[in-house]
Amino acid sequence: MPVSATDPVQLIAFLEDPIDIEVVQEALEADNIGSSEVRQGGVKEAIETFSSNRSPQFLIIDISNSDLPVSDLSRLSEVCEPGITVLAVGNRNEVGLYRDLIKLGIHEYLVKPLLPEILGRALKSLILGEDKDKTPQTKQGKIIITTGTRGGVGSTFLATNFSAILAGENARRIIVVDLDIYFGTVSLYYNVKSNDGLKVALESPERIDQLFLERLFTSINERLYVLSSEGPLETIEKYNVASIEQLLKYLSKIFHYVIVDIPHGFTEVTQAVIDQADMMLLVTDSTLAGLRDAGRIIHFFGAERLGRRLILIMNKYGGEQKGMLSPENFEETLKYKISHVIPFDPTLTPHFTNQGLTLVNQANAVANTLRDIVNDVQGTLKRQKKTSFIDTFFNKIKFN
Ligand SMILES: Nc1ncnc2c1ncn2[C@@H]1O[C@H](COP(=O)(O)OP(=O)(O)OP(=O)(O)O)[C@@H](O)[C@H]1O
Ligand SMILES: [Mg+2]
Repeated sequence: MPVSATDPVQLIAFLEDPIDIEVVQEALEADNIGSSEVRQGGVKEAIETFSSNRSPQFLIIDISNSDLPVSDLSRLSEVCEPGITVLAVGNRNEVGLYRDLIKLGIHEYLVKPLLPEILGRALKSLILGEDKDKTPQTKQGKIIITTGTRGGVGSTFLATNFSAILAGENARRIIVVDLDIYFGTVSLYYNVKSNDGLKVALESPERIDQLFLERLFTSINERLYVLSSEGPLETIEKYNVASIEQLLKYLSKIFHYVIVDIPHGFTEVTQAVIDQADMMLLVTDSTLAGLRDAGRIIHFFGAERLGRRLILIMNKYGGEQKGMLSPENFEETLKYKISHVIPFDPTLTPHFTNQGLTLVNQANAVANTLRDIVNDVQGTLKRQKKTSFIDTFFNKIKFN
């Protein structure tokens, strides 16, 4: 069965030697595994394949031809979906290598020659999760919230363009969840029709599994998806906290980043999302009200909680707001760093709200700042030596 963009094969094996290919093929037949595919190759071929195709749930990978197996597998994991379970095979029998591979999240490492009985047991453990006394596979995608200190400050603009850049320029798999089921504009930004996906997912938590969910996504491109719905104003929807938690848990297994755009105004459900999030991108304008609410949200998020981070972003800076405060004013009062300042760009509104355009591959001040935010989130931002915000702001504000 071919590897398609939408329908992943359950198991793919990349093996260098014909003899191993035969042994694995026989074991897979004996185990009656749904859809599987055995290919000739190793880590290099796997990286090539999964850079442009969906990765399977289970992967068998031959590392015999790899001089630096740990860094090669780490590169491979970058292009695979986070929930993948990997069985490595190779010809080096070293305790150190074994330990490093397990630390990397590899389910098991088998030293060649592959013997049918041992391989059969390893496959059972891989697929059924048997013998799971080993370190469980814990790699998960990151849950990132975007929200605004006020309505209309640019939270959805950030969520949609940040995600489009991560997917389009950085090859990550992203889903944008629009938690504003009444007035959400994520689908408007991407110019797609909103379905009832989010509502259905939250109403049927017992049915949440990968196949069920995938039918509810709206695809923007092969790496970027939306989960949203357009609730009727006549009914007040009340979702329970457990279903949103379960939903986010599933999504983080199949996407590198789950971006949740939460509406301004808090409910039990938004609080639960905030509690589960790894990161928050908090967008503010430069007003006094923005300053006050930035402080309250930073406090509520508990930015100092281990492993969590709130990135404060000032948007539409330099626009014509009365009584505009500077980033320095914010930092002094909040004792919190404004990590990024996005300039006001009067040309944005008509283009980015209903034509499905995004800032992917665009060269202008706003796109460049969004790229900085993408790198910041991924931990790859190179900070220049300390310059004042005003300097960086005016350096950036050369619109093309
Ligand atoms: N840097 C910017 N320069 C100019 N206009 C911008 C900028 N960022 C966002 N906008 C515009 O501001 C408007 C509001 O943005 P957006 O919909 O993202 O706000 P929001 O915080 O999601 O609002 P809501 O509270 O309604 O959800 C949009 O028309 C958007 O195009
Ligand atoms: Mg919005």
